[in-house]
Amino acid sequence: MSQRVLSGIQPTGSLHLGNYFGAIQNYVALQDRYESIYCVVDLHALTSRPRAEDLKKNTLEAAKILLSCGLDPKRCVLFVQSHVPAHAELAWILACSTAYGDLTRMTQFKEKGDLAQSKGDIINTGIFTYPVLQAADILAYRAEIVPVGDDQLQHLELAREIVRRFNATYGETFPEPRPLLSTAKRVIGLDGEAKMSKSRGNDIGILDAPDVVKKKLASAKTDIKRLRRNDPGEPKDCNIFALHQFVTSPEKIAEIETGCRSASLGCVDCKGIFAASVEHLAGPIRARAEVLERRPDDIKNILRDGAGRANAIAEATMETVRKKIGIGEF
Ligand code: TYM
Repeated sequence: MSQRVLSGIQPTGSLHLGNYFGAIQNYVALQDRYESIYCVVDLHALTSRPRAEDLKKNTLEAAKILLSCGLDPKRCVLFVQSHVPAHAELAWILACSTAYGDLTRMTQFKEKGDLAQSKGDIINTGIFTYPVLQAADILAYRAEIVPVGDDQLQHLELAREIVRRFNATYGETFPEPRPLLSTAKRVIGLDGEAKMSKSRGNDIGILDAPDVVKKKLASAKTDIKRLRRNDPGEPKDCNIFALHQFVTSPEKIAEIETGCRSASLGCVDCKGIFAASVEHLAGPIRARAEVLERRPDDIKNILRDGAGRANAIAEATMETVRKKIGIGEF
């Protein structure tokens, strides 16, 4: 049997190019090579306590975008995390094999905790145990390959640690999952500083219309030493040039590089070429999303079918796990 791939993505409202180049592009490519399972992780999204109707809407929206990007229910399993009860059950079981100290060292926990405190909110336990639920997502399917961006590497290392401790206690049960990074393992946002993310507002949404992309690009950071149109630029100091690598042809990139260095090409022109490259990629995705938008029942049926298939695999794992640890029916 071929190895199994699993990954999850949060329903944040609108997925962005960082998600696309860092993860989704790999999800699509892996469908043909492995048994691939992908979930929209609505339980993880609960850590920010969204309104019920927003979470529901965003979960469907994320599924719509994934399908529009090329996930094919005939070649992969696509489902919503909360539709498969094994995730939450296994998360509790794995929590009992997770070191408290390991969770306190997670940088995403520290970042999210600081953010919650700065907003006067509690640091909820969900953001603390978040990586355990993530490990459960993977291990419920005994998945070995996990396509992610580099911000998830620490969580993956923890999942491996949990596997080692669980297997040492109860006997060989789970394989150690390994991350699979894309060439765009950390896409920097339009501020030219931080990882592209919706919460930082430095993102380009996969479904952003061309005029929205243009507007966002207008204020995007380039080489900060290039103050006037006639100043020569240094492509390696420019985030827009870095972003070109993901969408623009090598020939065009070579032209941009020369043009930037000689100042024959200005930042506005360079951004215009980038916008056109993004549209070349995103236009067809948006067109598919518009079709699906009119057919919400199709998306719901795909997710229902996916949950059924995911549940069958996860339940089989849980039967073994329950037996090994001494819970469940006699
Ligand atoms: P999330 O929803 O934040 O992001 C989804 C995927 O997109 C990648 N990504 C990026 N890659 C490169 N550059 C960026 N700027 C960028 N922003 C996001 C992420 O690395 C991720 O692969 N905890 C996970 C979701 C999750 C999961 C799982 C992942 C839950 N269960 C099981 C793998 C396996 C998260 O919050 O990803």
